Amino acid sequence: MDIDELEKMLEAFNPKQYGHCVRTMEEAEKLAVHYGADVQKAKIAGLLHDCGKKLKEHDNLTHSKTGAEVAKEVFNIQDEEILNAIRYHTTGRENMSMLEKIIFIADKIELGRQYEGVDKLRKKAYLNIDEAIAISLESTVEYVKMKNLELDKDSLITLKFYKEGK
Ligand SMILES: [Fe+2]
Ligand SMILES: [Fe+2]
Repeated sequence: MDIDELEKMLEAFNPKQYGHCVRTMEEAEKLAVHYGADVQKAKIAGLLHDCGKKLKEHDNLTHSKTGAEVAKEVFNIQDEEILNAIRYHTTGRENMSMLEKIIFIADKIELGRQYEGVDKLRKKAYLNIDEAIAISLESTVEYVKMKNLELDKDSLITLKFYKEGK
């Protein structure tokens, strides 16, 4: 399926997330070119990464797993590499593929994102994507601790893996 068609479908399916999804797609495209990854797959995964957010009952963590299902069922994406990039875009995992890394970090640094340290993270993402992932997860963990929220086990496993420079 071509990207234009997927864009139209996504805009109709999930208008609230659409701007963020297009910006994530654009960032993923740049990262894929930079790192020699499959540009088409990166664009599709970037565009659809939050398609699981349509349903209110899907909270911040579960929308990634739901998203992979929605991408498959609604958008007819059967490519496992794309589906995994969607599935792991929030928590990451050990030994991520380059496509998974690209979608993980593109989501956090797309041009609409504004938070302390985002410019540094944008630069880092193009210099050392593994370090960028560790930095991003570390600030998420700090934020969660500060707010006294429950720490996500999968994110901690990913953080440990990338912090140790694997
Ligand atoms: Fe997301
Ligand atoms: Fe997102």
